[in-house]
Amino acid sequence: MRRESDAVSFIGLGYVGLCTATVIASKGIKTIGVDVDEKRIEQLRKGNPPFHEPQLQQMLKAVVRKNRMEFTTDASKIAEANTTFITVGTPSKDDGSIDLTYVKKATQDVGSAIAGSPVYHLVVIKSTVTPGTTTDVVRPVLEAATEKVCGPELGLSSNPEFLAEGSAIKGTLQPDKIVIGALDSKSGATLTKLYRRIYSKTKIPTVVTDPTTAETIKYASNAFLATRVSTINTIANICQRVPKADVETVAKAIGLDPRIGPLYLKAGPGYGGSCFHKDLQALISFSRSVNYDPILLSAVEEVNQRQASEIVNLSRKLLGSLDNRRIAVLGLAFKKDTDDMREAASLRVIDELLKNGASVSAYDPMALETARRVLPEKVELLPDAISCLRRADCCIVMTEWDEFRRLKPSDYKSTMKAPNIVDARRIIKRDDFEGFNYLAVGLGTSSS
Ligand SMILES: NC(=O)c1ccc[n+]([C@@H]2O[C@H](COP(=O)([O-])OP(=O)(O)OC[C@H]3O[C@@H](n4cnc5c(N)ncnc54)[C@H](O)[C@@H]3O)[C@@H](O)[C@H]2O)c1
Repeated sequence: MRRESDAVSFIGLGYVGLCTATVIASKGIKTIGVDVDEKRIEQLRKGNPPFHEPQLQQMLKAVVRKNRMEFTTDASKIAEANTTFITVGTPSKDDGSIDLTYVKKATQDVGSAIAGSPVYHLVVIKSTVTPGTTTDVVRPVLEAATEKVCGPELGLSSNPEFLAEGSAIKGTLQPDKIVIGALDSKSGATLTKLYRRIYSKTKIPTVVTDPTTAETIKYASNAFLATRVSTINTIANICQRVPKADVETVAKAIGLDPRIGPLYLKAGPGYGGSCFHKDLQALISFSRSVNYDPILLSAVEEVNQRQASEIVNLSRKLLGSLDNRRIAVLGLAFKKDTDDMREAASLRVIDELLKNGASVSAYDPMALETARRVLPEKVELLPDAISCLRRADCCIVMTEWDEFRRLKPSDYKSTMKAPNIVDARRIIKRDDFEGFNYLAVGLGTSSS
């Protein structure tokens, strides 16, 4: 009989599944990755990740070369592992609640793969799911598919993921915490042991609790982070309307208060990415289903949606009407170091610019391929920043890529029709840009 935790499998190889699986494989643990997307599996077998994430390609190529990771569309391969992480997507339904179709299907697939096996198997729900899902939705599907009861024969645990795109590998190599929501003591002990094996000498703070509390921790975490973003953006919008007030200095000062802290206090064009909006909508919907209207969270979302208009208004302040004006958008990804444009603020800003009659040129160091799929054809995508700026009446810096920090005043002056800059990320050193019409998020000016 195999030793427990000999091999680990992942079902769903997106940002979470692939990054986590690759890190685990890099620790010398045999890892099996399953995905329904054949093209993705073909690519992964060659060591090529389907998205950009710092350090991922190098690490993936190494584990594939060393034969530590196997990729397949055949879910029955899961039977060769002792622990399976379910890492499929949990998208929003029209009413904001989460769609559990993929989680149920993946659970069914795991159950069918391990049914009849005498070996203990631990199923771990890493996808973000609302409180109660592991016990009330996953458990019955798993028990029916395996014809076993969760307990000493079959393990089940929630284990939410907190990695952030753009630093997913770094965050997985050294997470700030591990949250284990174990259905029973054997599940908890098995997962704790696996993580000890993964992190060996590094002690990672670990919270072991029940599945429902673990699921709630994930939503609470994103609710707090999103609230922080909308709070500092609210302060930024007030600053913008007060001559000389500057949100950067405000943030720096309040961040010195240990109860507030300095991180995640940067005003900008609003949060994006696959998680915050989706998770807040899911939490709002879940909360209403248990008879509590979380008005704070609805306001956080509304502030975020409106933040795009704040950015567009800055360009309007510089140009007057936007009709027939050419706006250069620098940066499309929802943040730097990723090619992910899901829920990116650039989408909302571009949409509003187009609705106001502007023509839009855009450039992103990583997300151009994604942009081609998701942006309307009339947005002109350019291969570099300089071509994007050419003939523009105004430039909006939308993503905080280092490449944009390095642009010199002459790069703008020699290419643009007029030296108008809207800095939605506060990355431009204003003092170097004398003679420019410069407006920025959270920066009060006398004309505000
Ligand atoms: N992306 C993040 O930064 C992040 C961070 C923390 C938590 N999460 C959560 O983790 C989960 C996964 O997110 P993601 O961004 O990695 O998703 P993703 O959309 O990038 O990837 C999901 C993958 O699952 C595959 N899949 C779907 N059904 C399948 C099935 N039955 N069998 C095998 N593969 C299947 C898809 O083909 C896809 O490759 C979500 O619940 C998300 O909310 C995401």
